[in-house]
Parts: sequence; structure tokens; C-alpha cells
Amino acid sequence: MSAEAPVVDLSVKIGDLTLANPVSTASGTFGKGLEFRPFYDVSRLGSVVVKTITTEPREGNVPPRLAELPAGLLNSIGLANPGVDEYIRTYLPKLRTLGAPLVINIAGHSVEDFGTLTARFAKEEGIAAFELNMSCPNVASGLDYSTDPVVAREVMDRVRGETDIPLIAKLSPNVTDVRPIAEAVVAGGADAISAINTLVGLAIDWRKRRPILGRAYGGVSGPCIKAVALRIVRQLYETVDVPIVGIGGIQDADDVMEFILAGASVIQVGTANYYRPTAALDILEGLPERIASLGASSLREIVGTLEMP
Ligand code: SIN
Repeated sequence: MSAEAPVVDLSVKIGDLTLANPVSTASGTFGKGLEFRPFYDVSRLGSVVVKTITTEPREGNVPPRLAELPAGLLNSIGLANPGVDEYIRTYLPKLRTLGAPLVINIAGHSVEDFGTLTARFAKEEGIAAFELNMSCPNVASGLDYSTDPVVAREVMDRVRGETDIPLIAKLSPNVTDVRPIAEAVVAGGADAISAINTLVGLAIDWRKRRPILGRAYGGVSGPCIKAVALRIVRQLYETVDVPIVGIGGIQDADDVMEFILAGASVIQVGTANYYRPTAALDILEGLPERIASLGASSLREIVGTLEMP
């Protein structure tokens, strides 16, 4: 950070949790955080979100799992992860050394399983918040938890019953209207909503008459989805009274300013981590002067202040 950087309060709250700044990492795009240590001091981030963890270990989907798109990426990883027991034994101790608040992202294969996973992690030290992956398009039933308000509410009720740790519900853009789902998760006790997960897409190798991905459909991320993400963040901001975590094609601090004005209090850097490992830090360093240029001395002052026609 330059010596002349203006003093701007970047802190944000999610439930009882105070984050020093709004910059976080999107689940699945930041390894276990440890891989980024050679590039910068990860403890400077407001929080770090880990790749989704499930009850049982998962190999993930049949390859190929990734396809490059113009201005984006199509993935069908299939929630590959070592499962909760191995995760707690092997990885959690290392993650506790990251220095940034740790957000554990979990996905259940049923409402009950969401509760069981939460209970298992809630006994562990050093977890700042849970992000509930209710919106993975790449596993059977993965989308069911954020496409039906009744089911979304059931997940939240079940998880809320297990912990007082702040809960962030990660919602899907693959719905006609995200607002009823958002109202349902907030009624069920969500402390924040993160949006958006990926948009369902298809990449084709026409010469082979085949989809490029092994499982055909995947989730689109990257700059090509930013406008969709901004629209949904704005709709969420106008609908619910909890912090919004904005995700979708964020590459730089200017993108983040757009998300903040739309209504995001926290943002996650995702696909950009793959091609610019310092993206999250660069964003953090670019925010104070941009916020100050709007005449504000804190991030909170400008959240949602987009002037809509
Ligand atoms: C995946 O593991 O397939 C991606 C996770 C997600 O989109 O939620």
C-alpha cells in the first residue's frame, strides 16, 4: 500500500463477526489458502473461504472438468474433497495458521446432512463462519437447496439449530427469481447471503459432436457473468436486510466498487485467482482511494448507494 493511501474504514460485520475488510476468496478458487502464501501475506484478507467440504470423501466428476470460455471458465469439479473427518484431522490445523478469518464452506446431500456436517465442524476451534453451498450445479440435487424456498428454509432451520456461528447462504443464479429464496433463508436465520454461484452452461467440441466436459454441463464463472451477478446483488440488497457477499467475475478494485454500490458489503474473488494470484491483495490495496474518491471515509457509507433510475 502506498504511504499516501487515505485512511478508510474497510471493516464489515456479518452477524457478530467483524471482518477487517471486505475482501474474501470464492470457494474452490483459492486452494487451501496456503498455496497463495508465496505470493502475499494471506492474513491481510478480510476472510478466506475454503473449497466445499462434504460428509464423505468425494473423487469429483469424470474429467475433463474445466473448459476455458471467452472471458470465463466452465467447471464441473463435482465437489471433490477429502470428507469432513480427514479435513478436520489434516487440513484444519494448517488452515488455522492462515491468520485470516476462516469461512468453512459445506454442502450436505440432504437437509439432515447439512445439519450433521455443521454439528461436526461447530465443535472445532477457529471457524469464523460457515458458508452453506446450497447451489452447486455439478452434483445430483446440488441445486435443489436454493431453487425452492421451502427446502432452502428447511436447510437454514436445520443448520441454525446446530450453531451460533455466523451462517452465509450461497445462492444460485439458476432461478427465475432469487428473492423468495433469499427471504426464506433469512427467515431461517441466515446472517448473510452470498451470490452468485455459477450459471449452468455447456461447452461443445463440434468436430467430435461432444460436450467438452466429461459431465457435459458445468458452471460458468469469470468476467462474463459479472453483469448477472450485479443484477442479483442489487435485487438481494433491495429485498433482505442482511449483508450481501458479492461474487461473480470480480477482477479488480473497480469491479468491487460496482458490487459495493449495488449492495455488497463483502466480496469474493474467484476465477481471477487462477490467472492473477495477487488479485485479492491488489483489490484490497486499491479500495481506500476509490472509496475516498466518493467522499466517504468508510466502506459502510457507500454500500448500496447506487442511484437507480
Ligand atoms: C464444483 O465442485 O463442482 C463446483 C462447486 C460449486 O459450483 O458449488
